[in-house]
Amino acid sequence: MLNKILLVIWFILRPEYYLHFFSLIKRKFLFNHDTIENSKKAFEWAEANTIPYVDALNKLDIKGEVVGLDNDSIIEGRKLEARSSVKMGGSGHIHLLYDCVRLLKVENVIETGVAYGWSSLAILKALSQNGLGKLFSVDMPYPRKKNENDVGIVVPQNLRKYWTLIRKPDNPGILNALNKAGGEIDLCHYDSDKSWWGRHYAYPILWKSLTTGGLFISDDIQDNLYFSEFVKKNSLKFAVVEFEGKFIGLIRKN
Ligand SMILES: C[S@@+](CC[C@H](N)C(=O)[O-])C[C@H]1O[C@@H](n2cnc3c(N)ncnc32)[C@H](O)[C@@H]1O
Repeated sequence: MLNKILLVIWFILRPEYYLHFFSLIKRKFLFNHDTIENSKKAFEWAEANTIPYVDALNKLDIKGEVVGLDNDSIIEGRKLEARSSVKMGGSGHIHLLYDCVRLLKVENVIETGVAYGWSSLAILKALSQNGLGKLFSVDMPYPRKKNENDVGIVVPQNLRKYWTLIRKPDNPGILNALNKAGGEIDLCHYDSDKSWWGRHYAYPILWKSLTTGGLFISDDIQDNLYFSEFVKKNSLKFAVVEFEGKFIGLIRKN
């Protein structure tokens, strides 16, 4: 009970998080899609659709050599991460992100969910090597963890010139990011609110804003059935890859 009260106070003190706070309250009265049974079904669906990483890029017509994020960047990132005393969420598929951004030579990228900033680092490194593009990241820090100052800690100074970090929840952070990106994006990485209702809010906005040929990447699609329902409902060309026991969904816009 005390924890719940402290959580409510945490949100009340942050007016820029009110939209998300209200949607969390509203979800208590909506149908619960995030059941154990549904996550089991989602895991089975993801596992059955998984293909090797290289085959996934081929399936989505992403051509070129797959090399992954270099070791030096990872070692430097680990040193920076060690300066944080807070435990945050694990990284997305940094090699896949790096290769997709590099091979597609994308200009505008949005990601949701930063934590230590591993996905940001992979995207920014590829943008800097391409010599073009910008990353707009949306992140609401974990409530009551006091991790605000460590969000994005693994991103070195020299890559920050390509980066805008919007410290807000997906709602309204994604719309703010889109505004800054000029309304269109070439790639997005979704790794923030993994609930079914969270995805229900964000996927359609991000998908609609993708340019033709753009790439949608979502982490942890095994958590619930939203990703599988989204690709089925919209008859989309997708691929699933496995990474460290979880599943990443990719969709290319025709
Ligand atoms: C799994 S971590 C992101 C990991 C990161 N993409 C990486 O590869 O290192 C999830 C992050 O999303 C943030 N988050 C959770 N819910 C959110 C929401 N509704 N809006 C924005 N950020 C959210 C968490 O605070 C956390 O920083």
